[in-house]
Amino acid sequence: MRKGFVYDYISGLHLELTTKCNAMCPMCNRNFKGKVRKNLPILELTLNDIKKILRPDFIKKLKLISICGVYGEPICNKDLKEILKYLYECNNNVDIDIYTNGGLYDENWWKDLALIVKDYNCTVIFGIDGIGDTHSLHRCNTKYERVIKNATAFINNAGKAQWDFIVFKHNENQVEDAKKLSKELGFKCFQVKKTSRFLKNIYEKDQNLDSTIADYGKHPVYDSDGNIKYYIELPENPLYRNSTEDKMFELVKQYGNIDNYFDTNEIDCEALKTGGIFISAKGEVFPCCSVYQQVCYKTVHNVIDASELNEYNLYIKDNLSAFDKSIEEIVNGYFFKQLVKSFKCNSIKNGKPKCCSRTCGKNLDTHKNGHTTLIKYKEEK
Ligand SMILES: C[S@@+](CC[C@H](N)C(=O)[O-])C[C@H]1O[C@@H](n2cnc3c(N)ncnc32)[C@H](O)[C@@H]1O
Ligand code: SF4
Ligand code: SF4
Repeated sequence: MRKGFVYDYISGLHLELTTKCNAMCPMCNRNFKGKVRKNLPILELTLNDIKKILRPDFIKKLKLISICGVYGEPICNKDLKEILKYLYECNNNVDIDIYTNGGLYDENWWKDLALIVKDYNCTVIFGIDGIGDTHSLHRCNTKYERVIKNATAFINNAGKAQWDFIVFKHNENQVEDAKKLSKELGFKCFQVKKTSRFLKNIYEKDQNLDSTIADYGKHPVYDSDGNIKYYIELPENPLYRNSTEDKMFELVKQYGNIDNYFDTNEIDCEALKTGGIFISAKGEVFPCCSVYQQVCYKTVHNVIDASELNEYNLYIKDNLSAFDKSIEEIVNGYFFKQLVKSFKCNSIKNGKPKCCSRTCGKNLDTHKNGHTTLIKYKEEK
């Protein structure tokens, strides 16, 4: 493993363009008991912001830009199309992936997006978690028919699209039909996503985290008054369950509890290996989205459990804003250096970052275990 982050090796950027969203997915970090979290700042990076924080020479060295995020829907960013044009102007070879619920706007908007990106390596990944009304049981506040119309308009105008299907008990019987349909509609590929979010119930204890509010394998879906409407649940078919699940139960047995495992687990940082960084909708630079989310456990989720706050305690000692400093300065700075040093601490209590031990452990790597193989229908150029 590289000893520390090196600016020159950065080749991948995960970009959160906004914390706005039109949907209300029950397991999304932005929502809590049927409402958007009160402390979530509603932000977006404008074209001018992007030009300030992502200089052409930085964009030039990137191989992949993932426009996704932790708290928002990229399509809600009103400058998205102009931002894409700017990114391609700076680097016409870069791969860009855009993750979306696909529920906003009409066919004209999506046709226009296709015309902007069709000659580049751009894939739009639509999160469609079921066929017909089933879809909205997880993708709440989006409508299946709208999403399919939008995706079709994008595809019919030469846009490259991928269908991601997150499997639950209520939609597992539709996976094969959705796969077939995705091919018929012209999606380039279809991916079954095996969520690991039910596992939070095992390793998170703070009452401000929604993982603690139901039994393992169940997650409540609320109406906007905070009443439980129904539960989404783990799929029954083992094929659709995340392989991390068995491993985590095995580790609990072996170590007595999962915290003992997190204390001793060796960390093999994915961001260091792959040369990735993450930039939030506020313009702050982190090694990856997991660390960003962990820092937000304090600022957005009001978590008080000290074992969740090591990352935040480092964050407040530095300024990670790309509006104030260059990305190079931030990556060479205190936070990035101390985070890597803290991988070697002998326990979470003594400063080892829990999110790193959980996400990039040598014995349990939740980065790798989330997806089945991507099924590609056509060879892309
Ligand atoms: C916060 S979303 C941002 C992008 C966009 N709004 C979307 O939903 O695709 C980031 C990722 O979380 C995924 N996601 C949402 N709910 C999930 C769940 N219950 N389990 C696993 N992944 C989930 C989305 O599919 C998306 O890939
Ligand atoms: S669409 Fe994406 S950002 Fe919006 S609530 Fe769902 S997962 Fe979260
Ligand atoms: S979670 Fe921690 S160890 Fe994993 S990629 Fe992010 S910074 Fe590296």
